[in-house]
Amino acid sequence: MSAFAAALLAPRDPILGLNEQFNADPRTEKVNLGVGVYTDATGKLPLLDCVRAAEAQLAASPAPRGYLPIDGLPVYVKAAQRQVFGAEAEVLQQGRVASLQAIGGTGALKVGADFLKRLQPQARVWISDPSWENHRALFSNAGFEVLNYPYFDASAKGVAFEQLLATAKSDTRPGDIIVLHACCHNPTGYDLTPAQWEQLAPVLKERQLIPFVDMAYQGFGQGLKEDAYLVRLLGEQGHTFLVASSFSKSFSLYGERVGSLHVVCSDTDEATRVQSQLKVAARTNYSNPPTHGAKVVATVLGSDLLRSQWEQELTGMRVRIASMRTALVLAMKAAGVDQPLDFITRQQGMFSYSGLSALQMQRLRSDFGVYGVDSGRICVAALNENNLPRVAAAVASVMKG
Ligand code: LMR
Repeated sequence: MSAFAAALLAPRDPILGLNEQFNADPRTEKVNLGVGVYTDATGKLPLLDCVRAAEAQLAASPAPRGYLPIDGLPVYVKAAQRQVFGAEAEVLQQGRVASLQAIGGTGALKVGADFLKRLQPQARVWISDPSWENHRALFSNAGFEVLNYPYFDASAKGVAFEQLLATAKSDTRPGDIIVLHACCHNPTGYDLTPAQWEQLAPVLKERQLIPFVDMAYQGFGQGLKEDAYLVRLLGEQGHTFLVASSFSKSFSLYGERVGSLHVVCSDTDEATRVQSQLKVAARTNYSNPPTHGAKVVATVLGSDLLRSQWEQELTGMRVRIASMRTALVLAMKAAGVDQPLDFITRQQGMFSYSGLSALQMQRLRSDFGVYGVDSGRICVAALNENNLPRVAAAVASVMKG
């Protein structure tokens, strides 16, 4: 009898599993709107010019590949801190932030989750309803009970802010962790306004919650600074909190796994102790992070020229996504959809929460080769002039039933 006989076949991952299905689909006209990946107007995954230039610089003076420190490449970690909190942030000047280079945003969440579990074993984790599919799985696997706070208002097509606030005020316990999407909410695309964040922030403090901000899409909503509004607000208001950040999307460096974790502490001494704990969590998971992606990002962010090139390229991606939202609305109207579609342009970031059911999403895949997530989420960042008419016609068709 094999030692592994009891292993059950796990279901496919609801997002990355779609890639496997997509790749196996022989239809040439198939469209992948599943995973959150930006493709350009020609349907290709871009290699940003700033990245190309940084890689050329790095290749010109090849470096040996020793181990990085457990908490990552120092120059990268500093650059990531400035990107997340702002170059002039008080929390940085006061030396209150423990930070670590992480294996993408997901790695940052996991190191943060492991750190919190050791420190606050009784805490529960609150995630939005709905949230990124992996949030629940990741925090459950780290040993937490995971609960939902209300987020999506289906009838108003927006954020159920009053319910969210009421739950935060009455159902949470001191020490509970609350996962907040900084911008470009995944999967809905509906974000809180600055005024709503300002209303929520004091409640988090009163209830002694630990905010864990997930910022995977900085720069894809309104802009680099605007998208970090929540992080900057919590910093200015003296909260202690965590941020998981990712450059996967903003640098189109998905496979390099360039993320970072930041823990804003109450003082320098606490930050030193927290830093040592983050290193324990990293060391016992994967020892230390890889070099290349961190070097590329640090090279770009450390050069005025390359940084401004990056900001332009990022703006280009953001603007193209917004134009695809408008084009999708027009194309769906042209395909005969007569219900209101303005919600598509009110959402921001890579995703549109279409309102389609799991059954309709499955029909999109089987009948039209259009792949989206069963929750009804489609990646509008993968739309282009070429695939748009086909996608619009397919969505219109499944909507008619
Ligand atoms: C997504 O939601 O599609 C991305 O964040 C990629 C992922 O890891 O799921």
